[in-house]
Amino acid sequence: MEQVISLISARSKELFFYSPYNFIRDFPNQKQLENCVEKEILHFEKGEDSVIYKIEIEGYVHEFFVSNLKWDSKYFNLNTCKLQYVLYSHNDISILENAVRKFLKIISESGIYCFIEIPSEDIKLIQALSGAGFKLIETRLTYFRGNLGEFKQERFPVRKAGLEDTKNLMRVAREMRNDYDRFHADPIFSEKIADEFLATYIEESLKGFCDIVLTSNEKNIPSDSFLTAKYLKSEWEKNGINISKMVLSAVSSSTNKGWYKKLVSEMTYHLKDEGAEYIFMNTQSTNRAVINVWESLGYKLGGTTHILSYHNF
Ligand SMILES: CC(C)(COP(=O)(O)OP(=O)(O)OC[C@H]1O[C@@H](n2cnc3c(N)ncnc32)[C@H](O)[C@@H]1OP(=O)(O)O)[C@@H](O)C(=O)NCCC(=O)NCCS
Repeated sequence: MEQVISLISARSKELFFYSPYNFIRDFPNQKQLENCVEKEILHFEKGEDSVIYKIEIEGYVHEFFVSNLKWDSKYFNLNTCKLQYVLYSHNDISILENAVRKFLKIISESGIYCFIEIPSEDIKLIQALSGAGFKLIETRLTYFRGNLGEFKQERFPVRKAGLEDTKNLMRVAREMRNDYDRFHADPIFSEKIADEFLATYIEESLKGFCDIVLTSNEKNIPSDSFLTAKYLKSEWEKNGINISKMVLSAVSSSTNKGWYKKLVSEMTYHLKDEGAEYIFMNTQSTNRAVINVWESLGYKLGGTTHILSYHNF
């Protein structure tokens, strides 16, 4: 335990950016580091599907915190793990790269596919991971807005989507492919599997994986678009700030063109009415239509992360 605490302290500057809310300046940095990063690292060992790989190079200890993703492994028929954190206390990139190589050798021997979402600020680790063989899959931007009381836009006809919309919205998710999302950009997944995964994601969202799914509700136009959101209410009290998240969307370009802005605007009203003080969401750096819409609704860039992945089989 003492060793982990000292490793956390050596990396606290970069680890802060692993907090999903690091761009919210009303949420004190130290509290974010403690609530959203340190607690997770310190409880890691107790997690049912988590493993810590300890690797020593030239006398320096490195700890790789890995979650085994059971659901993904089963769905993709691919032994999948997410590298959550790497702790160490030195400044030598070649030592770090050697530690990553050793880690990759161990997981490769077990036929594991591994990915990480890493903030741009953790640049040395990004360089060590890339040097050791991880590939860049996606560059992700986070946008956010507060001041929700001042949000004033024209209102649009939307409704809450339900289970009866499943088949249609799965079709929209499948058809509106985004070549740069993590699943379409990673060559380990075929295009068909990536399309199907996004269809499954909206199916699960309608079953309750997300708190709300909104769709268009206009006369004589089919409801061929959706936007999902999670309220994240279980975190509000502990963090002392109410932050919610918009998650997945797709808009049919043949029947619902232009509806994305209407859905984001209406979802902003909905989340505000649920009690959110801040809203955030992610997209790929390539998704100009999405960025255009968010900026037009007063959302601002919060930060950038990268998805890197590795497999050797
Ligand atoms: C992204 C998506 C939701 C947008 O749907 P849409 O509402 O029909 O979007 P539009 O084509 O009307 O574009 C929205 C705005 O961005 C602008 N825009 C579109 N492409 C642009 C580009 N390349 N550069 C700058 N602006 C662009 C449009 O002009 C429009 O602005 P305007 O209303 O001021 O004219 C839809 O294309 C989609 O489902 N894509 C696949 C899934 C996806 O990427 N989901 C989002 C993941 S975060």
